[in-house]
Amino acid sequence: ADLNRIRNFSIIAHIDHGKSTLADRLIQTTGGLAAREMSEQVLDNMDIEKERGITIKAQTVRLDYRASDGLDYVLNLMDTPGHVDFAYEVSRSLAACEGALLVVDAAQGVEAQTLANVYQSIEHDHEIVPVINKIDLPSAEPEKVKKEIEDIIGLDASNAVLASAKSGIGITEVLEAIVKRIPPPKGDATKPLKAMLVDSWYDPYLGVVILIRVIDGSIRKGQQIKFMAADSVHLVDRVGAFRPKIEQFAELGPGEVGFITAQIKEVAQARVGDTITDAKRPANEPLPGFKEVQPVVFCGLFPTDAADFEKLRDSIAKLRLNDASFSFEMETSAALGFGFRCGFLGLLHLEIIQERLSREYDLDLITTAPSVVYHIAMRDGSTRELHNPADMPDPSSILQIDEPWIEATIYVPDEYLGSILKLCQDRRGIQKNLTYVGGRAQVVYELPLNEVVFDFYDRLKSISRGYASFDYHQIGHREGDLVKMSIMVNSEAVDALSMIVHRSQAEARGRHMCERMKDLIPRHLFKIPIQAAIGGKVIARETIAALRKDVTAKCYGGDATRKRKLLEKQKEGKKRMRQYGNVDIPQEAFIAALRMG
Ligand code: GTP
Repeated sequence: ADLNRIRNFSIIAHIDHGKSTLADRLIQTTGGLAAREMSEQVLDNMDIEKERGITIKAQTVRLDYRASDGLDYVLNLMDTPGHVDFAYEVSRSLAACEGALLVVDAAQGVEAQTLANVYQSIEHDHEIVPVINKIDLPSAEPEKVKKEIEDIIGLDASNAVLASAKSGIGITEVLEAIVKRIPPPKGDATKPLKAMLVDSWYDPYLGVVILIRVIDGSIRKGQQIKFMAADSVHLVDRVGAFRPKIEQFAELGPGEVGFITAQIKEVAQARVGDTITDAKRPANEPLPGFKEVQPVVFCGLFPTDAADFEKLRDSIAKLRLNDASFSFEMETSAALGFGFRCGFLGLLHLEIIQERLSREYDLDLITTAPSVVYHIAMRDGSTRELHNPADMPDPSSILQIDEPWIEATIYVPDEYLGSILKLCQDRRGIQKNLTYVGGRAQVVYELPLNEVVFDFYDRLKSISRGYASFDYHQIGHREGDLVKMSIMVNSEAVDALSMIVHRSQAEARGRHMCERMKDLIPRHLFKIPIQAAIGGKVIARETIAALRKDVTAKCYGGDATRKRKLLEKQKEGKKRMRQYGNVDIPQEAFIAALRMG
């Protein structure tokens, strides 16, 4: 195709401002899908995504459009994942475009959270076309919103497109603006193939499907291609695009966006950001920006019912087929039995996987407290990475522990600012900046990730009644005074409850955990001490009083059959109990303790 007839763009929008509705309209207007097929939203095609209102896997559509100049154009709409955990994937999708539509709700105006995405788009040198959506609403104030776009974002909004994705107003104007204002891609068809791997996913019929943006050269069926970072060679067996239905082509040329398949079995082999080139006539250099994605948050996943272990193993393996960014290995815990230690890109990623396991695979799971990745320098000069508090080396052998830090940008209405600042301060945060954007405070804090994985997000939401939101990125590891805190029941450590905490937080966390376990463990015939300890030193303590003798006498009295039944019932209960220093802890107690964070 002629480069001048191609436009590659993405849509930036705050949640609920109408991104999906507009995308559907663009598809419908350009004839991609019959109207009766419109009942289902096309882009958000996974249940969980729909419910959460976010797009997990990027999907891209190719639209054919005859513009008012009488010429035919190919418009590629790149869908981008909408959450901070997937920031790297977003950056690769943006790198594959030349422009973006900035959709702003005509009644709501510019939301501070949109800014981060706009700035990212500007960083990629995108041409940004403001689209003021929902002008059909009686409360729409397009002129006010235009001014906000200029004052807050600093974009010229004089020729913003006024639209209603819902009633179909302004859709042609949006398409014309894409053609006229977003520049065509550049590329050289005669150079060796260079294409960026934008995304990949597993399809049960096609195997691994790879979404690409061709930069130079072309890619065709039957070609031997090389993935430069993965250093692997594959044979292309399909080339095509989504309209949104799959269509196959002979080849994709420079500037084009589409998919290939190459008999690849696992998405792990097709890494986002990798450069695809011709195996026989390779490019000299890969494209810039490739990054190896590493899990940053780890936790243990255990089946509530031990009999489900094999099912959990199979389900995790299946999920992993489609998501190379999470990792897993087997883990055993005295408290929770057999399970897996899993790594995720962030907390939301963790939640998504956990939810898919329970919903799609019908598994009831126990999740241990999330942990971050610590770098440990040992006295003997060696270094190690720690993903699991259980693997913490003896403190006397440790020289230094470094923990990951993030820079978090929090957007919050003024009235909740004070409580949010206190929360960040309590979590060892360092304030970097505080500004006002469109009537909201924007606070920038450096925070240890360790403090964020521990219910930070929930606290943020509850303090601000759901109005605060945050974005973050990692800024590297820093030394911290970190210790492993164990919880001991009747003098025996309970592995599933141990955690790595900052020394300054240990006592408060320990006390909290002891109080909670005290309420969760039933009384026994003897007194049970519950302690939180660092090394050998107890920092918090609670005691569960003993049951009184006469109570038990009454319990076990009565006739023989009743007694036997009672014993049988107890035996049944036993299965779900774990013993710690003679103490039976019902499994529910662990679940409750862990669920409460
Ligand atoms: P997420 O997928 O959650 O990020 O939201 P989104 O930005 O994709 O918004 P979506 O398209 O799902 O629209 C959000 C809500 O706004 C839906 O209830 C739409 O029906 C409604 N909506 C979208 N466009 C318009 C419009 O032009 N006018 C009116 N009145 N409502 C609209």
